[in-house]
Amino acid sequence: MTMRTPVRPFRSREWFAAPGRSDMTALYLERFMNYGLTPDELRCGKPIIGIAQSGSDLSPCNRIHVDLAKRVRDGIRDAGGIPMEFPLHPIFENCRRPTAALDRNLAYLGLVELLNGYPIDAVVLTTGCDKTTPAQVMAASTVDIPAIVLSGGPMLDGWHEGELVGSGTVIWRARRKLGAGEITEDEFLDMATSSAPSAGHCNTMGTASTMNAIAEGLGLSLPGCAAIPAPYRERGQIAYETGRRAVEMAYEDLRPSKILTRTAFRNAIALTTAIGGSSNAQPHVVAMARHAGVEVTAEDWMAAYDLPLLVNMQPAGKYLGERFHRAGGVPAVLTELIEAGVVDGSALTVTGRSLAENVAGRVASDRDVIFPYAAPLKPAAGFLVLKGNLFDFAIMKTSVVSEEFRTRYLTRPGHEGVFEGRAIVFDGSDDYHHRINDPALDIDEHCILVIRGAGPLGWPGSAEVVNMQPPDALLRRGITSLPTLGDGRQSGTSDSPSILNASPESAAGGGLAWLRTGDTIRIDLNTGRCDALVDEGEIARRRGEPPPPFPASQTPWEELYREKTGQLGEGGVLEFAVKYRGTSATPPRH
Ligand code: FES
Ligand code: MG
Repeated sequence: MTMRTPVRPFRSREWFAAPGRSDMTALYLERFMNYGLTPDELRCGKPIIGIAQSGSDLSPCNRIHVDLAKRVRDGIRDAGGIPMEFPLHPIFENCRRPTAALDRNLAYLGLVELLNGYPIDAVVLTTGCDKTTPAQVMAASTVDIPAIVLSGGPMLDGWHEGELVGSGTVIWRARRKLGAGEITEDEFLDMATSSAPSAGHCNTMGTASTMNAIAEGLGLSLPGCAAIPAPYRERGQIAYETGRRAVEMAYEDLRPSKILTRTAFRNAIALTTAIGGSSNAQPHVVAMARHAGVEVTAEDWMAAYDLPLLVNMQPAGKYLGERFHRAGGVPAVLTELIEAGVVDGSALTVTGRSLAENVAGRVASDRDVIFPYAAPLKPAAGFLVLKGNLFDFAIMKTSVVSEEFRTRYLTRPGHEGVFEGRAIVFDGSDDYHHRINDPALDIDEHCILVIRGAGPLGWPGSAEVVNMQPPDALLRRGITSLPTLGDGRQSGTSDSPSILNASPESAAGGGLAWLRTGDTIRIDLNTGRCDALVDEGEIARRRGEPPPPFPASQTPWEELYREKTGQLGEGGVLEFAVKYRGTSATPPRH
């Protein structure tokens, strides 16, 4: 290995080789030698490559990284770097109470301090479970040192009685069967656990697969990385290549600020539609963009709303992660989108080459999984942005609108795309569970289920609760979904076409606070309006009443989070943190 000169002196030299400051460097050197590093190794000018380790026993979706990191280290060593692995604050999507959403900004804050305050020249971000991707990308932008994403990959496909069962999606589907009395509790559990046959993150196009695809679409990972299933041999191989590439990026000073441009984010949003991506992509993409200094507007989402769905993967379609990978994964989807002119292939990526160069020749090999742009699975299948007197911003994931739902709600002659319904309002999910089967509510197919108190402030953190199931009596009549609306989120694995992420939320003074059960809500998908048909005088009177209560903070972080976090429409970021960008330009004081 010939020693090269980096484009910009490595920042680790500040610690280990500051001229005339041997007193200082001695302090830094002596303890790193505890695990066998020699002073010469640390002083010889090799870049120090961090590995942000997101796997742990509290992060089962990312646990594969505990093993993969060994291959990342091999790659870093072979390319002439020094690996240093350190833990990321765990973010376990479906176990962390009151919600893992609290942890995205906490992991972000922690990683910023690690990357900024330690002698790290470049970093491998190990991603997987939903928020582990945006948290780390956000931090990489704030500090702005060379960074490359290594996803852990989805689990193998799940099977139950000869049918594909996908993470999360099977739970929402089996829950409806349970409610309708078609299956027992044991059968429900059996179906749910069958969906998780191996190490890896969710195997559906839920938030994890979506965010890793987005990272690849943004140009932050090696081509093809996102879709490789966790147990496949290619996963270990790409871990090695990612480690190698991180060293080169340190020499080239290829930082996130050069990659995360407005073009990159527009590309990522287009990709989100084509893959039938999670509704959680909206706050996460906005958060990553804001930390990168890029504005993403409602118009950007609407431009991508008109794009087609190409990937036939649950919850919007049929298949799971293994088939998607074999069909060509993200590179094959990007090939379609670049050829159609809706993704700008000139965008720079971590390879040092453009997106188009990365995916050249990578065409889908299975057209039942990745559809051609000219003959898509569904036309106009992105997030529809809505506003009205109940909120300023909310989205509806239209790729999951089923034929049953479309026929019942969106095809009234002369009123296509418009529906009106009687609001049934719940204050949080406990209230929903207590009352959904209460006959006094008289819920029928003309109702809209509304949940509030589920946003960043109200929950706190914003909960995945908007995909509310109809009462059991309706399920038994074969009505498997009602229109739903709320100021929380829903799982990316859900097949519910809810109106969600409503901002501002009820707890922040949004219109959902004055909505009452029995009010009529009118939703017009043609104009993107959602309004309660309540007159101004009555709205003003209700605004004078006490707002719906929300629970007190239980931990110091919950209190701080509530004080500093904005609304989902704006990414739910720590608002004060957005102004810090490129902190690595100034070395922290000794
Ligand atoms: Fe972690 Fe889905 S719950 S990836
Ligand atoms: Mg989730």
